Amino acid sequence: MKIAILGSGGREHAIAHSISKSKKIKKIYCLPGNAGTSDFAKNLSININNFQQVYEFIKQEGINLVIVGPEQPLVDGIVDFLEERFIKVFGPNKIASQLEGSKIFTKNLCKKFNIPTANFGVFENIEDAKNFLKNVNFPIVIKADNLAAGKGVYISKNLKEANIAVDEIFDGKFGKAKNILIEEFLDGEEMSYFIISDGKTIKNFGTAQDHKRVGEGDTGKNTGGMGAYSPSRLINKELENKILNKIIKPTLKGLDELGTNYKGFLYAGLMIVNNEPYLIEYNVRMGDPECQTILPMLNADLLDIVEACVEQKLEQTIIDWKKKQSLCVVLCSKGYPDNYEKNIKINNFEKLILNENNYLFHAGTEKKENNILAVGGRVLNFISLSDDLTDARKNIHENLKKLDWNKGFYRKDIAFKVIDK
Ligand code: AMP
Ligand code: GLY
Repeated sequence: MKIAILGSGGREHAIAHSISKSKKIKKIYCLPGNAGTSDFAKNLSININNFQQVYEFIKQEGINLVIVGPEQPLVDGIVDFLEERFIKVFGPNKIASQLEGSKIFTKNLCKKFNIPTANFGVFENIEDAKNFLKNVNFPIVIKADNLAAGKGVYISKNLKEANIAVDEIFDGKFGKAKNILIEEFLDGEEMSYFIISDGKTIKNFGTAQDHKRVGEGDTGKNTGGMGAYSPSRLINKELENKILNKIIKPTLKGLDELGTNYKGFLYAGLMIVNNEPYLIEYNVRMGDPECQTILPMLNADLLDIVEACVEQKLEQTIIDWKKKQSLCVVLCSKGYPDNYEKNIKINNFEKLILNENNYLFHAGTEKKENNILAVGGRVLNFISLSDDLTDARKNIHENLKKLDWNKGFYRKDIAFKVIDK
């Protein structure tokens, strides 16, 4: 089969790598991919938000299946666009993708189906929002209602901070804002919970705990994710049943009532408070770096699973996992999530120890004349599988020390809640 994978991050490298092990693969195309994917797939610099261009390429190359990594093209309806043209594609359609594209869509669904989530209000203008804020308890959470790449969420400690958040969102800091959401602050621990769905059957696709803050001990600015471990220390059978029955199944019922269904990966971002799950947000894709953390533990053939989803045969498919724990540490450009230097050469890749337990997935890298350059904020993902996360961390740190790149930094404490407790 010829497969096209859309996206250029660590998530897409991990998906491409996992798919590449399938016997059915003839060729993998990454649109646009990164330096890591170019080692075994063909990278093409096609703008994945230009659906017509993507479609023409797929037709011309005779691609059998398209896998969409990031949220933007999903929210913009790439699945509908390609399916209307009889292309097989893995990912949710435009209506279902509102679960990520519009926080208000999701909040209204929560209200209708009694899905546990933070209490909230939606405000259409500055005045109403600020009036409401005069009578709330702090901290309070203020969110822009559009895709803001993990930004666009403020946790305000007092009225002054909250008013600034409202001004910044309505000033268009995260794109044109029609509405804002003000919600209750949930005090608990976060967990990423994943399922895969073919529109009829759902199956668990792992759990993880991401570390979104840039600084050690979960301090500083929010980022796309500085590292993760899997499975989450919070998961247990009772909690999983609550997640499925109180959150996931009612959500899928809600989509059914809208005359559609969910195909693809679904990522529930949860706050766990005393073993009770609350939905913070949905993402209509795998997490990044959770995908890089989880996929190396998959024993089954990812291509078989994805194909089964597209053909609505997931029920008959077995998804089995290695009985190990996985840790991922993200190496970033100094300055991320703000400004950082680009096009800096990274050396010593050949010294890294990579094998069936130790992986490297690229993100913001590019290959130029056989040199690997850092071109993004999150640059490389180091993963290690082990029976013990302390051991996994040691393996990752040993590899990280071998690389020669003085413009990089990483959090040394990923999984600290499990390892250093
Ligand atoms: P979101 O983009 O909605 O996932 O929010 C980004 C981050 O803000 C989350 O990962 C949480 O750490 C935090 N957050 C969002 N909503 C809440 C809430 N209601 N209570 C506490 N923390 C929250
Ligand atoms: N790990 C956070 C995200 O993928 O949105």
